[in-house]
Amino acid sequence: MPKLYIETVGCQMNVLDSELVVAALRKEGYELTSDSAAADTVIFNTCSVREHAEEKIYSALGRLKNAKQQNPDKVIGVIGCMAQNHQRTVFERAPYVDLVVGPGQLHQVPELIRKVQTTGDQQLEVSLGRKEGSRTEIARSHESFDPLRDPTMRPTPFQAYVRIQIGCDKFCTYCIVPSVRGPEQSRHPEDILAEARQLAGEGCKEITLLGQTVNSYKYNEGEQTTRFSDLIYSLHDVDGIDRIKFVTNYPKDMTDDLLEAVRDLPKCSKYLHVPAQSGSDAQLKAMRRGYTVGEYREMLARTYEMIPRVAVTSDFIVGFSGETDEDFQMSMDLVRESRFKNSFIFKYSERPGTKGAQHLPDDVPDAVKRARNNEMLQLQNEISEADNQRFLGEAVQVLVEGPSKAAAKKEAELGAVPLQTQLTGRTMCDRIVVFDGNRRQIGETIDIAIYDANAHTLFGTVVTQHVQPELVTLG
Ligand code: 5AD
Ligand code: SF4
Repeated sequence: MPKLYIETVGCQMNVLDSELVVAALRKEGYELTSDSAAADTVIFNTCSVREHAEEKIYSALGRLKNAKQQNPDKVIGVIGCMAQNHQRTVFERAPYVDLVVGPGQLHQVPELIRKVQTTGDQQLEVSLGRKEGSRTEIARSHESFDPLRDPTMRPTPFQAYVRIQIGCDKFCTYCIVPSVRGPEQSRHPEDILAEARQLAGEGCKEITLLGQTVNSYKYNEGEQTTRFSDLIYSLHDVDGIDRIKFVTNYPKDMTDDLLEAVRDLPKCSKYLHVPAQSGSDAQLKAMRRGYTVGEYREMLARTYEMIPRVAVTSDFIVGFSGETDEDFQMSMDLVRESRFKNSFIFKYSERPGTKGAQHLPDDVPDAVKRARNNEMLQLQNEISEADNQRFLGEAVQVLVEGPSKAAAKKEAELGAVPLQTQLTGRTMCDRIVVFDGNRRQIGETIDIAIYDANAHTLFGTVVTQHVQPELVTLG
């Protein structure tokens, strides 16, 4: 059986894409290996959001050069966003790469590997650029909704990603995504529902809906428009699905009908990822985010008011073009007052091909970017810790995902899989909980009493149901 090694970096969309590629290759007889040296085919599913992610892939490719020299039959593939972004440049920088396949052509991977094997020629399959055709042509070249899935590639057997939208039309000036993932397209609601039903039938309990701006989801058919909230209501009726999550939200599209759906639907995770990116109007304008800080604040206040104890997370970019100390302090103010459960903080990385790279100088020194990143991270960590401390003494409902990281490491070292082990799972508002439990609890939703918390994790014990003697009826 041919062996496949696949490495995935980047966002959840890439995790899902890898699942689809693995499923397609398994159908061809491939089996997975975690050893790239032993693999017949090595695939990197790549990310282009920051330069660092791309450079890491080139380093990883560099490490394969010798292996390819020793075994010329080894097929090396680069797929995903960097493939779309760099195209032939990948072959120029790493001439021993056999195949470069964009996110819109992943269904062709098995056939392209066969072509490499039969012809020995390098294969390049990518979508049209944003200016290389009509919108319909470009959109079609990115379309790759593929229902074939591989359950073993999922985060866990009972959790799965479901793509509801591809591409993005927001064109934030720093962002490469609209170029590499193409025009925003919402998937047909019936296809999404069918996929959710199929997943539920396979034992999946939690689905995470994926899109660059999921809450901009809209599907028009004749007179009828399906909004994102309508879609969530339909998915809520799917038997077997207990939890529905979704990422990422666009602040401007956080409408009341969506917030009401999140509030009213018990299966809906009370967790919203709504990236602010900056707390300065000048920066938001330069980024072309399409909202002011005031509007973001209003959205957040509305969210907190409508959904009690909702957890909100955010992304911030520090050191974007022209960011002054005052701009940065405004972002710090926004972090301080917003009580995000967590924020992902990134140093601006100029991406060739974006409006930012064309028109706005990357003029904040790297040392300043780093210092701002650390300062914001420290503030967010303090907030996250204080926020988590509110759970001390409370019981939370946890969907148990599997052994904790520490337990999994220990088990791998010992080569043993004990029944009693440290487990991890997530609450309805996406907080990570670690506790001592029993393997049989994996996949179950159980109550955990919290006794300790740090910025990233809650620690607890399983709540055992004490039956009051007077309620016990015998016979
Ligand atoms: N530089 C740094 N961070 C970026 N992001 C997107 N593009 C860039 C870039 N060029 C961040 C944004 C986005 C997250 C996924 O990555 O914060 O929300
Ligand atoms: Fe990139 Fe902006 Fe689209 Fe998000 S909304 S994917 S940051 S262009």
